[in-house]
Amino acid sequence: MSQTEPSPSASADRTSFLSLLEVHGRLDWLFLRHQEAVLLLDVDLSRSTLDDFERELVDHIRFEEVGLFPIYERALPIAGGGLDLYLKEHEKLLRYVRGIRQSFESLSPRESGGPARVIELLDFEAKFKNLLKHHDLRERNILYPTLDRVASPEEKSRLLLSATEGQ
Ligand SMILES: [Fe+2]
Ligand SMILES: [Fe+2]
Repeated sequence: MSQTEPSPSASADRTSFLSLLEVHGRLDWLFLRHQEAVLLLDVDLSRSTLDDFERELVDHIRFEEVGLFPIYERALPIAGGGLDLYLKEHEKLLRYVRGIRQSFESLSPRESGGPARVIELLDFEAKFKNLLKHHDLRERNILYPTLDRVASPEEKSRLLLSATEGQ
């Protein structure tokens, strides 16, 4: 079964916004648990693990949009780092999660045609994982380093503390 749940790394620099990338690692782990349930053809577990993933994804997106983007905005314009790009990607990620949910709500993996639909679902999920990876890179390379540059020490400690408390 799953690798063990990732725990906060002792070596992460808690004074940098880059430490928030641990949340991305946790989201990857939660999605892996969901995919394992799909592979086991366990529809109930697939649903509950997707619920867990979606809840944390929504929380993380809200935290970024409400807490971080107003600070990031001060550094704009940045090539390849416009706010609209992040917002569109967030919207797309959430749309994909809804698509994933719809495709397994009607899934009967053990009935005729079921295995082919499981493969279709995993293919769709592979596209979603690519999108997640792409989004992680944009934030890792642009959003979080920029926040480290423009946030005041007070903003930094307040936001990093609230992110840790939210985990
Ligand atoms: Fe993020
Ligand atoms: Fe994001």
